Amino acid sequence: MAAGISRFEGKAAVVTGGSRGIGAAVARRLAAEGAAVAIGYRGNQEAAEKLVAELRAEGARAVAVRSDVADPEQTKDLIERAVAEFGRLDVLASCAGIEHFDALENITPADFDRIFTVNTRGQLFAVQHAAAHLSEGGRIVLTSSVSASRAVFGHTLYASSKAAIESMVLNLSAELGARGITINAIAPGGTATDMAAEHAASYQHPELKGTVPMPQWEATHGALRRLGRPEEIAAGYAFLASDDAAYMTGRTLQVDGGYF
Ligand SMILES: NC(=O)c1ccc[n+]([C@@H]2O[C@H](COP(=O)([O-])OP(=O)(O)OC[C@H]3O[C@@H](n4cnc5c(N)ncnc54)[C@H](OP(=O)(O)O)[C@@H]3O)[C@@H](O)[C@H]2O)c1
Repeated sequence: MAAGISRFEGKAAVVTGGSRGIGAAVARRLAAEGAAVAIGYRGNQEAAEKLVAELRAEGARAVAVRSDVADPEQTKDLIERAVAEFGRLDVLASCAGIEHFDALENITPADFDRIFTVNTRGQLFAVQHAAAHLSEGGRIVLTSSVSASRAVFGHTLYASSKAAIESMVLNLSAELGARGITINAIAPGGTATDMAAEHAASYQHPELKGTVPMPQWEATHGALRRLGRPEEIAAGYAFLASDDAAYMTGRTLQVDGGYF
């Protein structure tokens, strides 16, 4: 139980992209505070089932469902499975996302469709299907990125797919607010996950790329001079998913260690 807090006792949550990284940390945090958790994942069944076993061993109710957010019908299945298992839905934490770096001249329509289908369209339809089951007090937390508001070479597709999320939560807040449901986003900064291990070097200026060792780059990253830990980012999701954030909606919370 995180710091003896149990803000989600008796509640049920769906976490997309919950098998690894930030999503797995969100699932752990919500479960530690009492939530029953349904974890969606794209392909890594082993990691998802291992996490479910871990959460159950801690006394939580948990289930893993293979569901690619690129296909809204699969997201619908994930949400309906959660409702069938737990009898209710209180929280959607939408964490699934994919990275992309490439220069303008190399971007193809297929790249555009792939990135926006997962990062943007996938989150919109997760909201639509979750909203069908949420009632007053429901909480939706989407995932943007600090990249939405920073210029980085070759990052246009990913960054703009995330910037759309910040507008999405702003605009959906009015519709959902009428039903007493809040919707916000987290914009994580660089966080030590598989995604960061694979792509962090691409954040270096092309003229420096490869010349600054990654440990040195990380040690100068942001005001706190390190990457975030997934559980530090998850604390932001838990806040927005809790009653502590009851009067907050339509906003994007930057949890980035001071990466300005
Ligand atoms: N790490 C960072 O520095 C950082 C910074 C800002 C924003 N973010 C955002 O935070 C979120 C989590 O990132 P992360 O670093 O934890 O990523 P990660 O380590 O690459 O993990 C990605 C997770 O998303 C799932 N996923 C990917 N594509 C999916 C799809 N089409 N359908 C369903 N699930 C899918 C993966 O499932 P499988 O295990 O089955 O592959 C995995 O659980 C993403 O939205 C990312 O854009 C990350």
